[in-house]
Amino acid sequence: MPNCKQYEVGKDCFSPNRNLSPLTTEIDVEGSLMLAKCKVSDLANRYGTPLYVLDETTVRAACKAYKDALEQYYPGDSLPLYASKANSSLAVSHLVASEGFGLDAVSEGELLTALQGGVPPNRIVLHGNNKSDQELLLAYKNSVLIVLDNQHDIERLAELVPSGGIPARLMLRLTPGIECHTHEYIRTGHLDSKFGFDLDQIESVLIYLKGESWARLEGLHAHIGSQIFELEPHRDLAEVMADVLLLAQKLGHSIKDLNIGGGLGIRYVKDDNPPSINTWVKVVSTAVKESCSSRNLDLPRLMCEPGRSLIATAGITLYTIGSRKDIPGIRTYISVDGGMSDNPRPITYQSLYTACLADRPLDSVEETVTIAGKHCESGDVLLKDIQLPSSKSGDVLVVFSTGAYNSSMSSNYNKIPRPAAVIVNKGQADLIQKRERSEDLLQYDVVPDRFRVVG
Ligand code: LLP
Repeated sequence: MPNCKQYEVGKDCFSPNRNLSPLTTEIDVEGSLMLAKCKVSDLANRYGTPLYVLDETTVRAACKAYKDALEQYYPGDSLPLYASKANSSLAVSHLVASEGFGLDAVSEGELLTALQGGVPPNRIVLHGNNKSDQELLLAYKNSVLIVLDNQHDIERLAELVPSGGIPARLMLRLTPGIECHTHEYIRTGHLDSKFGFDLDQIESVLIYLKGESWARLEGLHAHIGSQIFELEPHRDLAEVMADVLLLAQKLGHSIKDLNIGGGLGIRYVKDDNPPSINTWVKVVSTAVKESCSSRNLDLPRLMCEPGRSLIATAGITLYTIGSRKDIPGIRTYISVDGGMSDNPRPITYQSLYTACLADRPLDSVEETVTIAGKHCESGDVLLKDIQLPSSKSGDVLVVFSTGAYNSSMSSNYNKIPRPAAVIVNKGQADLIQKRERSEDLLQYDVVPDRFRVVG
C-alpha cells in the first residue's frame, strides 16, 4: 500500500509529485481504500471499470506548490502553464484555470479544449513542430501566444496574418543542446531533435523577425525532456536562454517572457526519488535570476510548463480482475478489463507502476503476480511481478499515478472503448468524461455503397 501522508506546504517530502498515492488517500474502518472520502470500490461499482479517478485536492495542491514557490523564489512576474498533453479535458482546463494557471496546447483539439474550458486566451501557448494553417489561425484569432518551432511556422504565419492586421504574438523555441530524456544528461552543440531552432540559427531568425510587421516576438522557449530527476540541466538551460535573451535585446527585441518548459519527474514506485516541486522551482528561479543579473538583463516574466508533476499523482485507474493463468515455475498472470489501450506507458516505455487491491490494500502479500491487460498482444502487461494478497475474479485493482499520459495517450486498440473519468472531492464524485460504448466506435466508419450486398 503506497504512502498516504497529508500534504504540508513547504515540506519537501510531502510534495504531491513525491507521493505514491493521491493526497486524500485513506483506509476506512473496514480496511478499504478511500479517496477524497469516497470508497474506491464503490466508485468502481457505480461507474464501471476501467475507470480513471482524479483527486481534485492533489491537483490543486500541486498547482499551489508551483504558484507558492514561484512567489517565494522568483522576484519578477511569473506564469505557470499546465502542459495539457498530460491530461486534456474541459474539466481539467477549468480546474487549472481556477488556480491561476495558463495552459500549453499542441493541437487544435487541445487549443479548443482550453478555450472552451475557460482558460483565458492570453494565458494559452500553442506549440507544435508541424502546425496546420487551421491551428495557426485559431491561435492568431484568439491572441494566443504561438511558439515558432521552425522556418515553416514563420513562412505560414507571414502569409496568414492579414496585412495591416494585429501582429501575431510569438515565442521562439530554441534547441538548447541539453539532452535529458533519461536520468543522465549531456550538453552538445547540436541535438538530434525535431523541435525548435538550433542555436546557430537563432541570430538570423531574430534579425528577420525584427523587420516583420506581422510579428511581435514576446518570448523565448525551451523544453529539455520529461520525468527528469536532476536539477543541473535546468541550471544550464537558464544560462543558454539568458545568452539568447541578451542577443535578442541587442538586436532590438524587447522580450518579456522566458519559458523554461516542464519536465519535473514524479514517484511511480518506491525507489523513485524526484526533487519536490518547491526545490525544482527554487533551482529554476534562482538560475534564471542569476543568469539575467550577470548579463545586466531585466527579469523576464518566468513561465514554466509542468504536465506530469501537476496531475500524474492525482490520478488512479480502477480495473476489475478477471481471468487467471498459473504457469508453474514461470509466472502467474492476472488479467484485468483494460490494459494498453487505457495505459500505453508500460508497453511503450517499460514504465513501472504501483498497485493494490481496493478493498484489501493493507492485507499481507501472498503471491507474486503479473497484471496483464485484455488486448491481443503478449506485451500488454501493466505491472510485471508485483506482490499482492491473493485475489479473485471480481476484485477491484487500483493502479496509482495514472493521472498523466494515460487518458491522453489512450487508444481504441482492439476496438475497446475508452474508460470513463471521474473527479472526486470531499465525498463527492463527478463524471468528467463519459465512458465510450462499442457502438460509438463505429460512428466514423463508412461503407462504400458498392460493398453493400443488394437483394
Ligand atoms: N512543454 C513541452 C514543450 C513539452 O513537450 C512537454 C512534454 C511538457 C512541457 C511537459 O512535460 P512534463 O512536465 O509532463 O514532463 N508521453 C511521455 C511524456 C512525453 C512528454 C512530452 N512533452 C510519457 O508518458 O512519459
